[in-house]
Amino acid sequence: MPEQAIAGRVLSVASECVPLVKTGGLADVVGALPKALAGQGWQMRVLMPAYRGLADRLERAEEVWTGGDLFGGPAIVLAGRVDGLDMLLLSAPHLYDRDGGPYSVAGHDHADNPERFAALCWVAAEIARDGLGDGWRPDLVHAHDWQGGLVPAYLRYGGIGVKSVITVHNIAFQGVVPADRLAALRLPGAEFTSDGLEYYGRISTLKAGLVTADAITTVSPTYAEELMRPAFGMGLEGVIAARAARVHGILNGVDTEVWDPAGDLEAEPFDSRRLMRKALNRDRLRAEFGLGEVPGPLAIVVSRLTGQKGIDLIPAVLPDFIAAGGGLAVLGSGEPGLEGAMHAAAARFPGRVGVTIGYDEALSHRMFAGADAVLVPSRFEPCGLTQMYGLRYGTLPVVAETGGLADTVINASPMALAAGAATGISFHPTDALAFGQALRRLTQLYAQPKVWAAMQRAAMRQPVGWEVSSAAYAALYADLLG
Ligand code: ADP
Ligand code: GLC
Repeated sequence: MPEQAIAGRVLSVASECVPLVKTGGLADVVGALPKALAGQGWQMRVLMPAYRGLADRLERAEEVWTGGDLFGGPAIVLAGRVDGLDMLLLSAPHLYDRDGGPYSVAGHDHADNPERFAALCWVAAEIARDGLGDGWRPDLVHAHDWQGGLVPAYLRYGGIGVKSVITVHNIAFQGVVPADRLAALRLPGAEFTSDGLEYYGRISTLKAGLVTADAITTVSPTYAEELMRPAFGMGLEGVIAARAARVHGILNGVDTEVWDPAGDLEAEPFDSRRLMRKALNRDRLRAEFGLGEVPGPLAIVVSRLTGQKGIDLIPAVLPDFIAAGGGLAVLGSGEPGLEGAMHAAAARFPGRVGVTIGYDEALSHRMFAGADAVLVPSRFEPCGLTQMYGLRYGTLPVVAETGGLADTVINASPMALAAGAATGISFHPTDALAFGQALRRLTQLYAQPKVWAAMQRAAMRQPVGWEVSSAAYAALYADLLG
C-alpha cells in the first residue's frame, strides 16, 4: 500500500483517555478520535499525565522529552503505543504518582490540581514550540476541557505560533483557581483582565482556553447553542457567545466495534434481523439483577450518579412505572445520597428493581444487550454516549430533550412513527412530571410489538459511529491550518 500523505500533525491534550484511564465519556472521545482521524491522514498523538502505573503499559516506550523543573520536580515525556494509539505520557512523579484517581483521592480533590494540569499544558506548549526528541512537532494542538485550558493560553502568551482548538465536554467544570496562584501557574499578571484570565475575581483555566484558542468546539450542535444561554453556560455564556463565529458543535460518535450487538462477546449476538435473540440476553439480565418476570419494558440506567444526570428523579417516577409492568436495572456510582436512593428503590420493589453500585464495563455491555430501554433524564448533557449505545443495541432511549440527547434521539411523535423514523422518546423539561409521562408513552409503545420492533430497527440503523464527526474535525483542522 502506498503511504498516505500526512494531512497534519495534531497534539491532543487531555486528562484521561481510553484504554488507560476513564472516569467518563471524555476518555472515550479522546481515545476514539485519533483512530477515526488516522484514516483521513491526520497524525495524532495524545499527551496525558503518567498517573501511577500507566507508564508500564506503554509498548516500545521511549523518552522523547526532558524538562527542567516542572512545577516543583523533574519531568520527562515517554512515547509509546497502547492499543494502536500513539500516546505521550508526562511522567512527573511529584504531580502524578500518587494514590487515588486522576482528580481525587477518597472523595477529595488533590489540592494541587491547578498545578498538576497547568504542568500538562505547559509541556504541551513546549512540545508545540520545540518539538520532541524524535523529531515530531505538531502543526496544531487540540486541548480538552479545563484540564487542557491553559494550552491555548500558554501558546498565545508565549508567542508560540501554533494553532489551537479547545473542546468543551462539560462546562460545569471550569478549573477555577484563586487569583493569588497566577504567578505559580506561570501566567502573566497583565492578562488578569475581564477579557482574559479573570473570572469573577478568580482564574478559570477553561475561560483562559476559551478566550485564547483559535477555535472552540463542543460535543453536540444543540449544546453549542445552549452554552450561549445563561441557563446552560454556567457563567461562561457571555465568553462563548462573544466568540460565536468560532464555536462549532460536533457530535460525538461511539466506537461501533466495541459497541456491536452482532459481535459483543458479553452477549448472545443479535442484529436487527434477529431481534428475537435479544430475549435471551433479557432473561440473563433479569437473572443477573435478581429480577422476576417483567411484563412491561425492562429499563436500564448506566451512569455517574450525579445531579447532572437527573438520577434524583427516578424514585418519584418509579411507582407508576412499576405499576404499569416496568422493571429497572441500575449500574452506577457517585454521590452517596443517590447511591442510597437507588438501594432504597431496589428494597422497595424487590424483583422489579435491581441495583449494582460500582463501575463495570463488561456488565454495562450485558445491560445494553438485554434491556428494552435506557433512561437518560439529564438536566444537561453536552453529548452523552449511553443513548447511542442504546440505539445501537435496539435498547430504546428515553431522554431529556437537551444537548446531545436532543441531537441523537428521534422522539416517537405521531409523524416520526408514521414515517418510520422514531428511535426513542424525549421529554422536556427535566422534571418528574415530564419524565413520568415519557415512561407512560414508553409502556404504551412497548405494548404494541410491531411498532416497538419498527422503532428498534430504526434505532439500530442510526449512524452513531465516528465517520461524519471525524470528517468535521478534519475539516476544522484543515481550515485552521489554512
Ligand atoms: P459522562 O461523561 O457525563 O459521564 P457520557 O454518557 O458521555 O457521560 O459517558 C459516560 C461513559 O461512562 C459511557 O461510556 C458509560 O457507559 C460509562 N459509564 C458510566 N458509568 C458507568 C458504570 N457504572 N459502569 C460502566 N460504565 C459506566
Ligand atoms: C462529558 C459530558 C458528556 C459527553 C462527554 C464526552 O463528560 O458530560 O455529555 O458525552 O463529556 O464528550
